[in-house]
Amino acid sequence: MRPLVRTIPPGPKARQVLLRDRKVMSQSMVREYPLVVDRAKGVNVWDVDGNRYLDMNSFIAVMNFGHSHPRITAAIKAQIGKMTHAGFLDFYADLPVRFAERLLKHLPKGFSKVYFSNSGAESIEAAMKLARHHTRRKYFMSFYGGFHGRTYGALSLTSAKTIHRKHFGPFLSVIHAPYPNPYRCPVGSNANTCDVDTLRYIEEEIFATEADPEEVAAIFVEPVQGESGYIVPPPNFLKRLRKLCSDNGILMVADEVQSGGYRTGKFLAMEHFGVKPDIVCLSKSIGGGLPFGVTASTDDVMTWPRGSHASTFGGNLASVSAANAVLDIIEGHKNLGKEVERKGRKIQNFLKKLQKKHEIIGDVRGLGLMIGMELVKDRATKRPAKEERDRIIEDCFRKGLLLLPAGQSVIRFAPPLIMADEDIDCGLEILEDVMAKQFL
Ligand SMILES: Cc1ncc(COP(=O)(O)O)c(C=O)c1O
Repeated sequence: MRPLVRTIPPGPKARQVLLRDRKVMSQSMVREYPLVVDRAKGVNVWDVDGNRYLDMNSFIAVMNFGHSHPRITAAIKAQIGKMTHAGFLDFYADLPVRFAERLLKHLPKGFSKVYFSNSGAESIEAAMKLARHHTRRKYFMSFYGGFHGRTYGALSLTSAKTIHRKHFGPFLSVIHAPYPNPYRCPVGSNANTCDVDTLRYIEEEIFATEADPEEVAAIFVEPVQGESGYIVPPPNFLKRLRKLCSDNGILMVADEVQSGGYRTGKFLAMEHFGVKPDIVCLSKSIGGGLPFGVTASTDDVMTWPRGSHASTFGGNLASVSAANAVLDIIEGHKNLGKEVERKGRKIQNFLKKLQKKHEIIGDVRGLGLMIGMELVKDRATKRPAKEERDRIIEDCFRKGLLLLPAGQSVIRFAPPLIMADEDIDCGLEILEDVMAKQFL
């Protein structure tokens, strides 16, 4: 369905809310453009002035099966009529256990235990504590460009933008390593070798000068970097990183908060690379729109004793009922993975054609429906075209297409996995129009 923008946003009702928001809400949030939501169904979102938008970001990779999915809505309604807060840290309940049993079937072989929390950052905090508790080592390692959340532990791992960290230090003991971004190789000179070069840098420089590997508890890695621009590492990087972890007794933690739940065409993005991590963190889409975080591992890693880690709301029955419905939907789809990959190829092909017309498009990459289009001032220097990127996103918004930025100058495409082909076409046509008006 084509979006329908009757009143150029922000319309009169939206403007009222924006004024009130400015008075009472912390202005620390991100808000790229003035969308004031009212309701949403499937891939359509209505604002308070009655404008209808097409959602091509799933509200940051959360609404994988569209907004107000009838199955998820029905599950939540049924549960909240019965009971919401199970006090799962003090008492037992069937529903969270049932969800755990089902979820483990989608996780790597050998995974046998889960811990429930309420957000991506909390799932990371749990993994950090678990890794230290299990290894009795003090350091963590993560990657430049990585985003793991905004609580102190997760923020210590995060190194995506200085605004996230400015005036918040000091942080926990985290060593940041370069992430092998094939478009902007941080170490070495070309995309074919930057994975090997990066690992050599970790072994020969970081382990020799900054931290003895025997003191590193865990390496946290996003299999596809999300907030920094949907960056897919070279095919063998994660396998090599796995080996480096195993060789040194370091736990490998996969942050699948954004990439998990079939966003890339497989339940975990790690599966594309044939890698089994030691700990997996999930959130965003797994809760079907309710707050939910999962930290999963094996019996021999998740050995922390009673009382050592818990959360009041972890395992909340409303969230778990939604998560069970998400699994119903996933398990009910015959070709979910193939469809995600097909739609991802379709979008990438379109963007690569657009790249031939527009010098400003420096790179198009992605995995499944996690696709980034990076804009540069010129292709030789690759200087980020941030203002131009922001203008494209703003114009798309005013024409009814909801996109979001990532990194310095990337537009991210993360539509609901169930978005129909004609809706994808419609969104991409709007983008093409906006770019033609601005740059041709
Ligand atoms: C990869 C990744 N990890 C962790 C987080 C933090 O999640 P939350 O905002 O739910 O704390 C995010 C959020 O964008 C993320 O993309």
